[in-house]
Amino acid sequence: MNEDLLHKKTIRMVATLVVLGSLSIAALAQARSESVDAAGHQWWQNGVFYEIYPRSFADSNNDGVGDLNGITSKLDYLKDLGVDAIWITPCFPSPQIDFGYDVSDYLNIDPMYGTLADFDKLASEAQKRNIRIILDFVVNHTSDQHPWFLDSKSSRTSTHRDWYIWRDGKGPGQPPNNWVSVFGGSAWKFDPTTNQYYYHYFYPQQPDLNWRNPAVKETMFDMTRFWYKRGVSGFRLDAVDALFEDPNLTDNPIIKPGRNAFGDPFEKNKYNSKLPEVHDVLRGLRKVADEYNAVLIGETWTADIAELNQYYGKGNELQLPMDFLFTTVNKLSPSEFRKQIAAINVASGWPTFVISNHDIARSYDRYGDGKHNDEIAKLMAALYLTLRGTPIMYYGEEIGMKTTPPTRKEDVRDPIGRKGWPKEKGRDGERTPMQWNSDENAGFTTGKPWLPVPATYKTHNVAVESKDPTSVLAFYKQVLRFRHTNAALLDGDYQAIDESDTNVLAYLRTYKDQSVVIALNMSGTPQKLALAVGTSAKPLVATTDSLARGSKISLAPYGVFIGQIEK
Ligand code: GLC
Repeated sequence: MNEDLLHKKTIRMVATLVVLGSLSIAALAQARSESVDAAGHQWWQNGVFYEIYPRSFADSNNDGVGDLNGITSKLDYLKDLGVDAIWITPCFPSPQIDFGYDVSDYLNIDPMYGTLADFDKLASEAQKRNIRIILDFVVNHTSDQHPWFLDSKSSRTSTHRDWYIWRDGKGPGQPPNNWVSVFGGSAWKFDPTTNQYYYHYFYPQQPDLNWRNPAVKETMFDMTRFWYKRGVSGFRLDAVDALFEDPNLTDNPIIKPGRNAFGDPFEKNKYNSKLPEVHDVLRGLRKVADEYNAVLIGETWTADIAELNQYYGKGNELQLPMDFLFTTVNKLSPSEFRKQIAAINVASGWPTFVISNHDIARSYDRYGDGKHNDEIAKLMAALYLTLRGTPIMYYGEEIGMKTTPPTRKEDVRDPIGRKGWPKEKGRDGERTPMQWNSDENAGFTTGKPWLPVPATYKTHNVAVESKDPTSVLAFYKQVLRFRHTNAALLDGDYQAIDESDTNVLAYLRTYKDQSVVIALNMSGTPQKLALAVGTSAKPLVATTDSLARGSKISLAPYGVFIGQIEK
């Protein structure tokens, strides 16, 4: 197709869809503009977010892969659990090399997941239940099958040539510089059609967009408008660190000897990550988001809180940059958690907590000791759901799903797992199907699930745990109920107590004259905690054998006590 035509067609299509969208769902967007509570908080500060990996959540047509109608069918479950917003990882048309993180059309739904009509149904059913929808916006790169890239690679003078990053090699067979892809190998791929290399931070099938090109910027901004007008309340922005590269293509420094799981040298991404220009784009995306009272969540891998602060900007960039530093505390260490919480508590914006996601092993086994995993799952829930900030749950955490990595290379679905085997097994382990009941395939599908269902589904599933008042699920529900109704948990300040305790992590959340104490025993032995003289605590949520008597709190091994302070 003629390149100009292709470009014009894209723009026309966006414009038409935007107009259509705005007619049909203007009312929906309007209904979402009320924002603050009595304490002056925005909806995204009070809400509980829940990440759904759509391939693995619920399969309505039994083809082995989850879909949008599957999600719609589970909205009542999510409502009952206490979820206010769902973040759906990419469900747009995609060759699925990176399971949706390689988008070939930003304005449609992959047939594997359904249709735009299914999306609209999901949006309206979610709205009936007051659940907002957050989509995943893959900003750094597209699929190599996206029409923009197909046009870009077709000739050096094509309309979209400068939408991606093309350079001459240093010499025959030599890429432009030493940058390696985070998914292994050189970050440059030679394309014989035009005798140049293109740049890809991730897989070669994920060419990086050239954000220095104003046409890319404007078009990508319009993509977000399209979905806002369709009722979406925000985006999780994928891989924002990687948006810009040093135009001089300076070689990255090698930081230590040896090779990583992919056989590449250990490079510091000094010249192709976290460039200051990233923040101009975030401000631009935020301006558009503000037109719709929408929220921007960031996949922000930062070295420290000072770096995280940059993503809040002056309150004009991301509202919710994820604090992944929290996930780096990989053991039950009160002092380590205290340190991280204290740091994020004085960050320049509202904290955002995650404990696992589709790229990070599940918390159940990261923290579990193999014997008390359910107790520890409750302990971790009590932590990230009672801190001052917005929690983003990952599907299945609430029932104690475990990470189940493949044991044979031939079973691996995630390409990095095949490439890096056995050192890097990929991310299949944390993406297994949601466990709904004790039926075959945990009720996820009657077909062949795209990833095997872990054997623990017999004991850890929604149906079984719903009937057990001591289950992980029952505990999540209780904590979430108080989180939504207790002013101190919702709006209170955070204040650490007993900071020298090496076994118990304890803190107060205080709003006006109300305080809640949260006491978490991170050890395998019983522990005690003394409240201020003359105070006691009325239990809100406590695990077996953890209780308060007068000003003394007794905690069972890995026990939790959450109580309202009484004077
Ligand atoms: C983000 C996603 C990850 C994906 C990568 C490339 O890190 O979370 O799943 O593979 O971006 O898009």
